[in-house]
Amino acid sequence: MTAAPLPTILVVAVALIDVDGRVLIAKRPEGKKLAGLWEFPGGKVEPGERPEQALIRELKEELGIDVSENCLSPFVFASHAYDSFHLLMPLYLCRRWDGVVTAREHDGLAWVKPSKLSDYPMPPADEPLVAWLRDLL
Ligand code: CDP
Repeated sequence: MTAAPLPTILVVAVALIDVDGRVLIAKRPEGKKLAGLWEFPGGKVEPGERPEQALIRELKEELGIDVSENCLSPFVFASHAYDSFHLLMPLYLCRRWDGVVTAREHDGLAWVKPSKLSDYPMPPADEPLVAWLRDLL
């Protein structure tokens, strides 16, 4: 018998990059899946949303910042098969936003040099993004 294919969920994520070339990562809160791991901010794309719209919404909800769509450059796709779903996750780069980055939904935030990102434990889908960022930035 062939196993049913896993559903695919689309999650968008972003590397916010500050003037010193540091990247923002955020600690997933207690009570959520993958709690305590550090992720690139973002979240699920809702039905009817374009990925960029979803990311702009998530950045407002999670970090309290405003980002305009033309500041979001798509970078690479991460993909990971979890036990019950397949995750597809484009990572965008963003160097300009309005407002002060604030942890509204995470347990902590860190601005990290790309060479130090591997010191922070991340969900398996996010890990490959670290090497790509290190090479790019
Ligand atoms: O908040 P919730 O976990 O329901 O949703 P989410 O943060 O939008 O992400 C949905 C799922 O995607 C998470 O449960 C993780 O399994 C996965 N995810 C990930 O692997 N890496 C991320 N940076 C974000 C989400």
